[in-house]
Amino acid sequence: IGKKVIHLDTVGSTNDYAKEIGNKVSGGTLIISEQQTKGKGRLGRVWKSKSGDGIWMSLIIKPKIEPYKAPFLTLVAGASVVKALSNLGVEASIKWPNDIIVHNKKICGILTELSAEMERVNYVVIGIGINIKTIDFPDEIKEKATSLYKEGYKLSRVDIVRQFCIEFEKLYKGYILDGNKQDTLELCRKYSAIIGKQVYVIKNNKRELVKCIDINENGNLIVKEKNGEIQEIMSGEVSIRGV
Ligand code: BTN
Repeated sequence: IGKKVIHLDTVGSTNDYAKEIGNKVSGGTLIISEQQTKGKGRLGRVWKSKSGDGIWMSLIIKPKIEPYKAPFLTLVAGASVVKALSNLGVEASIKWPNDIIVHNKKICGILTELSAEMERVNYVVIGIGINIKTIDFPDEIKEKATSLYKEGYKLSRVDIVRQFCIEFEKLYKGYILDGNKQDTLELCRKYSAIIGKQVYVIKNNKRELVKCIDINENGNLIVKEKNGEIQEIMSGEVSIRGV
């Protein structure tokens, strides 16, 4: 992982670039850009990616798995980011499924995209944006977003990327070669920002207050509803604001 690194000055989106070259490069190739002019977030959102403000990167991997097993790789990536930051002394946690937060605000988002045909994965692109030095955030996200610098951490981007590659390689190999999900799940539980807490689950524009119980073997979130019913949530948005 990260043996081949493509370092760009500027690009629309490292995820889109990764999808353009995905079939031509070997698995483990990492694309990093100083800035992105069309950085993408989940749900069609814009991801601000100014030059020098953060780590904007996409990892191309080629696991021999069926497509339904790919979403778990987002948890592998999230666990790797949080472990990498923890190794460097940052108190970070994971807001399931794919946000990393510091002091209750988001510093990192993950966007996983899949290329598959005939029930076979060609490649998976894991896009990771980590706010390192950003100071000014747009008004809409000011309350929710932060950067490592804003939270008092001065870390080098190279150290973070290096730590991430080391941690990702361990968890990824464990999952793909040995079917080991436990190491990833243990980290997701240990560093969870929401297990044991009340959160809002947002679905179809409605929000429902629930208590998070656990993350299960499939990487899904287990919650207890107000009426006491236990539900398994496979995807979606979770909000810790205003609980
Ligand atoms: C989210 O939280 O909504 C996901 C954000 C993902 C941002 C990263 S930055 C590198 C890669 N390229 C993109 O266009 N997006 C991801």
